[in-house]
Amino acid sequence: MASPQNIVNAAALQKDIVDSFSTSVTISSSPQQQFSYMSSSPTNSFMSPTGRRLSTSCAPAKALKPFSTGDVKILLLENVNETAIEILKGQGYQVEFHKTSLPEDELIEKIRDVHAIGIRSKTKLTPKILAEAKNLVTIGCFCIGTNQVDLEYAAEKGIAVFNSPFSNSRSVAELVIAEIICLSRQIGDRSIELHTGTWNKVSARCWEIRGKTLGIIGYGHIGSQLSVLAESMGMQVIYYDVLMIMGLGTAKQVSTLNELLNKSDFVTLHVPEIAETKNMISTEQFNQMKNGSYLINASRGTVIDIPALIHARKTNKIAGAAIDVYPNEPAKNGADLFSNELNTWATELTSLSNIILTPHIGGSTEEAQSAIGVEVSTSLVKYINEGSSVGAVNFPEVSLRSLTLDQDNHVRVLYIHKNVPGVLRTVNEIFAQHNIDKQFSDSRGEIAYLMADISDVDQADRKSLYQQLLQTPFNISTRLLY
Ligand SMILES: NC(=O)c1ccc[n+]([C@@H]2O[C@H](COP(=O)([O-])OP(=O)(O)OC[C@H]3O[C@@H](n4cnc5c(N)ncnc54)[C@H](O)[C@@H]3O)[C@@H](O)[C@H]2O)c1
Repeated sequence: MASPQNIVNAAALQKDIVDSFSTSVTISSSPQQQFSYMSSSPTNSFMSPTGRRLSTSCAPAKALKPFSTGDVKILLLENVNETAIEILKGQGYQVEFHKTSLPEDELIEKIRDVHAIGIRSKTKLTPKILAEAKNLVTIGCFCIGTNQVDLEYAAEKGIAVFNSPFSNSRSVAELVIAEIICLSRQIGDRSIELHTGTWNKVSARCWEIRGKTLGIIGYGHIGSQLSVLAESMGMQVIYYDVLMIMGLGTAKQVSTLNELLNKSDFVTLHVPEIAETKNMISTEQFNQMKNGSYLINASRGTVIDIPALIHARKTNKIAGAAIDVYPNEPAKNGADLFSNELNTWATELTSLSNIILTPHIGGSTEEAQSAIGVEVSTSLVKYINEGSSVGAVNFPEVSLRSLTLDQDNHVRVLYIHKNVPGVLRTVNEIFAQHNIDKQFSDSRGEIAYLMADISDVDQADRKSLYQQLLQTPFNISTRLLY
């Protein structure tokens, strides 16, 4: 049985299909054709069994028609970057933009009607709110984190959630470079002193960074960017990662964490927050570090045991540290929020010398916000217009190469379904009267997602295909693009 949401989606889509019977699709004038961020993957040559036509690898990609384009409604909250508004409006979507988040009752009212919503960290998309979202196909989190959305519930409803985990990598890497220099020259302390009228010109235990060794823990997006920047400033770079990764420039991978700690003048962490990384730098690891070395953490607050860090600094085991992330962080900006009530050791930490503390600003730059706007809105467009779920955080990641302009009577089926035995047999029986040009499916937990391009489908067949898929017992949500 179709869920209530599916019935409503079905009604909306059926209207679109019916509309399409009387609407001629003018492919070449679609806004999507003018959209420079859309990557239209070249289509490989292949022959349909009817031998009708060959598409060539350089045939232009066809803009698929999800609904009547002007009918796609997007709700953008929390002042998401204007790059996103431009891209979504450029598609011809109806975009409603709000600078702030909305109170729950207003959000429920608005979310009923929209096909996509864009939020940042303040809007909580709970089951109560998502249950009202009858037409919603996708959520864009214009930020890194996605814990403001009930991801599992969204997946159960066939709603794909996208975020932007890597748009701010460069910003973090640059901050770390700044911190390396600031720590080795005690800039934080000198600045605080002068702000309070104290002139304290010292050179003792202040160093150039040239020739020093930077040890990077976690050589992913940020760690590898940082590696290049540090080398260009004359540092030697070593790194430790659970994966074997080829180093950039002359950076060298070491095989154990202890080896990295033993050899580095500066140690910087760029690992994800997972069980294995919790307190990965604690008393034992501080003991392995060189005397007078420095520690930097702009990854996640749980990866360093802060009381152990306080001890290491008090005993001069380390000469300084820069911390951007904390086990508990205030939910908003304001005075007196970074207190012992939040983290029991706050006063002790803030009283130490050569400890640079920043309020989780590693990725907070104008460039990163703009890149996040482009990345997330592009993911939304690709999912709405093409069905590609690559990059979704709660959903199987599936994509098919684009259809080309010369492929007339094709339909793309996007079938989100329960991950149970027998689905493919049922679906392929439905497809059986047509030719399946290409098909791909993947699952994640209890949800699976199938994409298929079917050829020689006329308008009446589209409607029939759609209704048959909708009536399968496995259906969560079905869309047809053509
Ligand atoms: N301060 C900020 O504002 C800010 C901004 C962006 C990202 N971050 C954080 O920075 C961290 C790194 O981000 P990224 O984009 O480079 O991530 P990434 O996924 O690209 O790279 C992480 C790397 O860590 C490695 N790794 C995982 N577990 C490890 C372990 N136990 N020991 C050693 N290496 C391990 C992975 O193999 C991977 O290469 C993340 O925690 C992210 O949340 C912070």
